Amino acid sequence: MSEPGSGAASGDTGLSNLLHEERRFPPSEEFAADANAKADLYDAAAKDRLAFWEEQARALDWDQEWSQVLDWQTPFAKWFVGGKLNVAVNCVDRHVAAGNGDRVAFHWQGDPAGDKRTITYADLKDLVCRTANALTELGVKAGDPVAVYMPMIPETIATLLACARIGAPHTVVFAGFSADALSGRILDADARVVVTADGQFRRGEPAALKPNVDEAVAKCPDVRHVLVVRRTGADVTWNDHDVWWHDIVDRQSTEHEAQAFDAEHPLFILYTSGTTAKPKGILHTTGGYLTQVAYTHRNVFDLKPESDVYWCAADVGWVTGHSYIVYGPLANGATSVLYEGVPHPGDKDRWWKLVAEHKVSILYTAPTTIRTYMKWGPEPLQAHDLSSLRLLGSVGEPINPEAWMWYREHVGGNHCPVVDTWWQTETGAIMISPLPGVTATKPGSAMTPLPGISADVVDDSAKPVPNGGGGFLVLTEPWPSMLRGIWGDDQRYKDTYWSRFEGLYFAGDGAKKDEDGDLWLLGRVDDVMNVSGHRISTTEVESALVSHPKVAEAAVVGASDPMTGQGIVAFVILRGGAEDAGDSTAKELRDHVAKEIGPIAKPRQILVVAELPKTRSGKIMRRLLRDVAEHRDMGDVTTLTDPTVMNLIGEGLEKGGGKDEA
Ligand code: WT7
Repeated sequence: MSEPGSGAASGDTGLSNLLHEERRFPPSEEFAADANAKADLYDAAAKDRLAFWEEQARALDWDQEWSQVLDWQTPFAKWFVGGKLNVAVNCVDRHVAAGNGDRVAFHWQGDPAGDKRTITYADLKDLVCRTANALTELGVKAGDPVAVYMPMIPETIATLLACARIGAPHTVVFAGFSADALSGRILDADARVVVTADGQFRRGEPAALKPNVDEAVAKCPDVRHVLVVRRTGADVTWNDHDVWWHDIVDRQSTEHEAQAFDAEHPLFILYTSGTTAKPKGILHTTGGYLTQVAYTHRNVFDLKPESDVYWCAADVGWVTGHSYIVYGPLANGATSVLYEGVPHPGDKDRWWKLVAEHKVSILYTAPTTIRTYMKWGPEPLQAHDLSSLRLLGSVGEPINPEAWMWYREHVGGNHCPVVDTWWQTETGAIMISPLPGVTATKPGSAMTPLPGISADVVDDSAKPVPNGGGGFLVLTEPWPSMLRGIWGDDQRYKDTYWSRFEGLYFAGDGAKKDEDGDLWLLGRVDDVMNVSGHRISTTEVESALVSHPKVAEAAVVGASDPMTGQGIVAFVILRGGAEDAGDSTAKELRDHVAKEIGPIAKPRQILVVAELPKTRSGKIMRRLLRDVAEHRDMGDVTTLTDPTVMNLIGEGLEKGGGKDEA
């Protein structure tokens, strides 16, 4: 069979290493000179890792100092043992006490253009205290889980902080999820109080939330109260257990005396929706979590709380929202933009208007959004002054080198460092990322573990692969913001994360080390394709496709093939302005992949599509594409952003729109 691509270091157990990248972007001298994190941070962590984390923990206010940094009984960790602190006090009260009550915590922008609110740290303190008092009146005590099913509004942030303030672990359920998803999580967490809204605005239109809650709560006999924010003013069915937010929160005192909680007190449970299995309730606790989210937010985003305007464009329903909209930025006293809406074809400008209006200096978003703007073309960006931006971050999926370059050029005006940050719901905070004032970045690489973090890439037998090799990404030492388990299921925690390799946390991702030892994430190992005995990552072939000037986004899957085991099938979205010339486009793209990474990775079939099936958090659902490619029945598509997309793709294939290899 064909040779692997140039420079391939494909072993029997590893992943082929196909793509090469020569571009380097060191920070400018000015950025480096003024950066929060300098190169000595790596030295300090390497010298004494636990002392380094103690140093980071001291950036928080503790009511009682810990007696032991780490108690590690593999795979169960306790960090800052014996320490006590209150998360809400660290995120809000201490900034007011330091004289920064007038600083803006959130510039909130609703989905309808006229809806805006400015919330200072002093305002936030009052709102959090009122909400904490209201939850207490509703009977919520320390240790009682509270379910949160809310839009991106200030009350949501206040609810999370109020829960933290009274020691009630919150479990946020993304407001786009169904009643069934909500009831399953309420029951699994055993939440007795649910906080929600009558509805939310999506793409300019009101959408109901309360009916889903009614349907869900009907299946949850232990729920005592549902606290409801009036957001859209829609008619709602009213039940005995329902309480309007404005009836109970508004009349509360703005005084609330916060109690300190143990460093290992549960802070939140967040369910990760596996594509097949029952969702896992990922448990995070107090002291270690807040330490690492604050540390990473300060150093990876180079936050200057007095002057920066920071915008993390995620939803609070995901861990990115928890760690980098709520806890990290607020612990650091940041000023943030909070936006209720999402980019959509009917409003391509809004994001960039917001950047210009608030002079956003730090933007954190996902590759799927960047590729969407690549598809739409740079015009909506060029119409606005984006010169306030000074740093760009990416998270959620591997970022293709060309998407990284597009982000740098069209959003960052070629002057902002781009940090590709790898982490997971389970890790709680960023683990692998450049330090923007230190690292010479490479487009598409998350580079190296942050100071204090230990990661490696290993083969099937847990042996670290040499530079140039690919394999499984593992975390080799415990870290402060690590999950403490799966809610109510220690065995599943051990089986899922700690059984593949003895004593190592297996993240489920494939990765490679380049010649310098820098890390390149290659996607979930379940997605790895096996073509004629070569294990090829979907990410590399997708990145090769996206490096063609006509392609904005690509998803590739391995479909069973009688000759080669699996054959590569690619679904591509063209960039704005690019013409689909049918078979000649397919041939052009196939040849391009062969040239970029070698004939072994040449797609058997290329299908030009208008949309790709994505999860609500923007990840491509390759499992569904595999089913389409193999002409299987599609199964459950309820977690898709737009289920009709699959029908269109399926029809395209049936009509012969699929471009088979000539
Ligand atoms: C999975 C975790 C972390 C917050 C949002 C997602 C993928 C995440 C990157 C990145 C390559 C990435 C991984 C990871 N992922 N960031 N920078 N480069 N892949 O959290 O939903 O728990 O997903 O997202 O596959 O395991 P999540």
